[in-house]
Order: sequence, then structure tokens, then C-alpha cells
Amino acid sequence: MKWNSRPESHPGWPGGPTPRPAFAVSGIPGGTDEVEAALLRSRLIAAVDAFGGHHGPEPLTVTVTNRPAARPPAKAEPMAADSPSVAERAQDFTATAPLYTFDRLVLPGRTMEQLLRAIHIVERRRTLFDDWGLRTIQPHPSSAVNLEGPPGTGKTMAAHAIADRLGRPLLAARASQLESKYHGEGPKNLDALFHAAAAQGAVLFLDEADGLMSARFETAGHGSEHAVNAMRSELLTALDRFEGLAVFATNLVSSYDTAFDSRVWHVRFPRPDEAARAAIWRRHLPGTLPQAGDVSPEALAAVGDVTGRDIRRAVIDAAAEALLTGRGRVGQADLLDALERVRASRPERPAPPPAPPG
Ligand SMILES: Nc1ncnc2c1ncn2[C@@H]1O[C@H](COP(=O)(O)OP(=O)(O)O)[C@@H](O)[C@H]1O
Ligand SMILES: [Mg+2]
Repeated sequence: MKWNSRPESHPGWPGGPTPRPAFAVSGIPGGTDEVEAALLRSRLIAAVDAFGGHHGPEPLTVTVTNRPAARPPAKAEPMAADSPSVAERAQDFTATAPLYTFDRLVLPGRTMEQLLRAIHIVERRRTLFDDWGLRTIQPHPSSAVNLEGPPGTGKTMAAHAIADRLGRPLLAARASQLESKYHGEGPKNLDALFHAAAAQGAVLFLDEADGLMSARFETAGHGSEHAVNAMRSELLTALDRFEGLAVFATNLVSSYDTAFDSRVWHVRFPRPDEAARAAIWRRHLPGTLPQAGDVSPEALAAVGDVTGRDIRRAVIDAAAEALLTGRGRVGQADLLDALERVRASRPERPAPPPAPPG
């Protein structure tokens, strides 16, 4: 059947035999009885007419054909082609023994308290929200702790320490690692990650979770926006279903998507102040490291705008230098020089905001 949505005599359209696009719509299953097929045809034509009337710059020629009754399955799209199952994907995620303990982690007392309380609430949420009925006032109890703070402030370390404290292995992944070149695979990988953590009784650690929880779209373009939304709804579903402890890490995000407000406890990791830096220096100068008598963690801590990660790098750098030059031990000047090298090699970052008065 052939049908022109706009006859050539239509007042709004210049006449003449201009070439026009033809569309073949093969949507009516073969074997449909005549009356029903006619009805379907007229509906299709009306739909195309409405569409063309609003959007079509050119007259449309629509061909409605019958679809063969027994059609062989369409050639699989890349995404569907031997796409691994959730169980198969879950095998890609293996939990490992935690590498750090709480006694190595230096945090302000209040932050440590917040962290332990958040873990407790997430760990005991079944008792609190189901047995004790708090779900009536909070239908989506928090099921994850989010460690937020600048790079190098101890978030990854804390995730290990939490798993260690709970006597569980740690299953760590980065959000970027879950994305895939095939459209629609990201949510499946996320689902598999949660399944793997549940199956292995592991604390799940999702690093770089910024993009997933931020209220703002970080990526441009319609397609990626859609992909981010698909990942987000999968994350919400997975969180509501997951019985274990999930730990996220993000750099400071100015605003979180409201869907995560109740589900995620945010614990802020600050840059270390002078006292914290001294404590971090002490933990990074093991007694087995040959040191000169002048090494002073307190004096090293006087150098500001330094994170724990900078301190670790400086110690390793100074020790390597001492070994390389045959001096055989690390002195205060070596550590200060190494710290300067680390600071100089750091990518530029915006100046920290001024400290609040008082
Ligand atoms: N608060 C901290 N207390 C003790 N060591 C720290 C701290 N923050 C950073 N470090 C040191 O820096 C290293 C890197 O920190 P990491 O936990 O990876 O930071 P983040 O995950 O926040 O980027 C740690 O393994 C540790 O050696
Ligand atoms: Mg980290």
C-alpha cells in the first residue's frame, strides 16, 4: 500500500514532482486478519501524519508492509552478542585482604567518630530500619558511606581499614572501570560488582563515585547523559538490595543528586592540619628506616599544604635518594628536599579557601 501524507495540491506545500523521502514501515505481523491489518495501517498512517505535520520539513511517502509471520531473530547488536551474564561478569571482581589498619590512619577525632558511627548505622540498618521499624520514617535507609575529600587525604586507606576492622575482604573498583565501550554495559557491570561483593562477603569500595552521585552532569551530550542516568538508577537499586557495607570515595562534590541524600552517609576527609601532618610523618618513618639524629616529624609538619600522600611520596623519594647516593641514611634536609620535589611535581590546584575566622 502506498500513501502520500501530503498530496501535491496541499496549500502549504509547493507543487511539482520534487523527490521526497519514502519510509517503509513493516510493523504489521503477517497472519493478522484483514480487518485488523487495515485498522493498524490507518493508525500507523495517522501517527506518521501527526509526526510529519509537526516536524517534517518535506512531504513523507509512507509504505506500510506486512511483516513476515515467522521472522528469524534480528542480527544481534554488539551489546547483545554473547554478552556475559551477571554471574560471569561478577568473576571479574575479586576481593583482596585489606592492606591498612585504623591505627595507621590519622584523622581529626570528630571525623573518625563520624566514620565509625556511619559504618555502624550502615552495618546495623536491618535492625534499625526493619526490626525497629525506622523504615516508616525513612523508606530508603543509608546503605553506603561516602568518604569525600581531596586526593591523598586517606580515603582509600580508610576503606581498607574499615574492611580490616570488620574482618572482611575488600572488593575495590573504580566507577570509570565499570563503563564499557558497549552502550548499556555499565549498569550490568555495576550489578555484577554488587553481586560479587555479596557472594564474597566483602566490603565493597567504589572509588571515583563523583560522577554517579553529583547533581550535575559532568559529561556533555545526550547519549552520555542517558548512560549516567542508567548507571544511577542501577546504583540506587543495587544499594537498596545490598546487605553488606558499601564505601564510596569522591572528591568534594558541591551538590549530590537528591536520590542519594538518604542512602549515603557523607564523611568529610579534610587536608591534614599541622598536628595531623606530624602524626602522619611519624607513621611514615618506620624504625627500620636508617635515619640521621636530626629527623623531626614536628619540624617537617611545619611545611603546610601537604597531604598524607605527599608525605608518603617524600619519604620514599628521600630514602631512594639516600640509597642511590650511598649515604645510607635519611636526614632532615633529605626529607625537606624530597618534600619540595613532591610539591613542585604536583599538578596545579586551586588555592584552598581561607580558614574561617576564630
Ligand atoms: N589521613 C591519613 N593518615 C595517614 N596516612 C595518610 C592519610 N592520608 C594519606 N595518607 C598516606 O597517603 C597514602 C595515599 O592516601 P590515599 O588513602 O590513597 O588517599 P585518597 O584515597 O584520599 O586519595 C596512604 O596510603 C598513606 O600512606
Ligand atoms: Mg583513593
